[in-house]
Amino acid sequence: MPARVSGVGTSVPPRVMTNDELSKIVDTSDEWIFSHTGIKSRHIAADDVAASDLGLEAAQAALGSAGVEPESIDMILLATSTPDYPSMPATASIIQDRLGAGNAGAMDISVACSGFVYGLGTAAAFINSGQSSCILVIGSEVYSKIINWADRNSCVLFGDGAGAVVVQATTDAGISDTVLHSVGSGALSLYRPVGGSRESCLPSTPDSRTKLHMEGRQVYNFAVQAIIDTVEEILGRNNLTIADVNHVVAHQANVRIIDAACKRAGYPSDIFFKNIEHYANTSAASIPIALNDMEQQGLLGPGDTVITVGFGAGLTYGGNLLTWG
Ligand code: UT7
Repeated sequence: MPARVSGVGTSVPPRVMTNDELSKIVDTSDEWIFSHTGIKSRHIAADDVAASDLGLEAAQAALGSAGVEPESIDMILLATSTPDYPSMPATASIIQDRLGAGNAGAMDISVACSGFVYGLGTAAAFINSGQSSCILVIGSEVYSKIINWADRNSCVLFGDGAGAVVVQATTDAGISDTVLHSVGSGALSLYRPVGGSRESCLPSTPDSRTKLHMEGRQVYNFAVQAIIDTVEEILGRNNLTIADVNHVVAHQANVRIIDAACKRAGYPSDIFFKNIEHYANTSAASIPIALNDMEQQGLLGPGDTVITVGFGAGLTYGGNLLTWG
């Protein structure tokens, strides 16, 4: 069966942190952050709020928008790189229980900012195979807990939030293609050095080594090309041109990444949705949050051709081709 997105929802923490506020924590300025990234503010989770809390609320909103009861869900796929607990249990299982989704399997997808497009592709494949008929795909992140607040190169870039979609079997067109890639040679350009099985957390370990470390320029260059390669691959595989596409919903990491990809490939920039100004980079949550904002702004019409593009740690990238509605 084909699979379609039948509902979308989000949850962002109420606390908003502006660039001016950040400039009191590290040596930065609103002018630098906005001109280099397009970010004005981000939402920050309270100390006791974890990925499952935001993910649960986004899931409930998506189920409400689809008119689906939790018991109807076959599978919960949670894309996150900020799970409630390190390595186990899957945060998806915590959401499954709190949602009352008693018939659903649950697993986390750990490909950082590419997580949502990997999740959407996996959901479509499960439904295409006949194994599932209703899947929740959630992206939920609380990067405020893992960023190094003393590192101005990275801490200004991220925000917290969650977005979710319900994916259901349909007879019409829906998610018709997915491309997924990994360039593992770039693994150490965006990672948390300490706390995994390579290097464990000893009392002597400096705290900053347990936090996110990023080679910004390297990731930037990768990201620009990842957008172009993903869009070109999807267009080519489906006999489309960029003129056939109504919206490209790329991961919101930096407006300059999107603008540079458009300039290099000659894409019309107005088909690329941008909302990073208000959220910063919410990693796996940025694409479903964008889809939700687009729905609320009346930008997504039935039959619209949409390409999603994710890219991030791994390094990973990929995208989906969807007919909306
Ligand atoms: O989801 C994927 C996650 N990661 C990304 O998408 C990140 C991709 N990379 C980027 O978006 C950009 O590379 C950054 C926004 C991280 C950096 O922008 P840039 O234009 O590449 O700046 P830069 O790293 O080349 O730094 C330029 C200058 C440096 O000063 P000097 O050496 O020229 O004196 C930095 O120290 O800007 C300085 N700088 C800052 N200044 C004020 C770096 N961060 C800041 C800051 N505030 N927050």
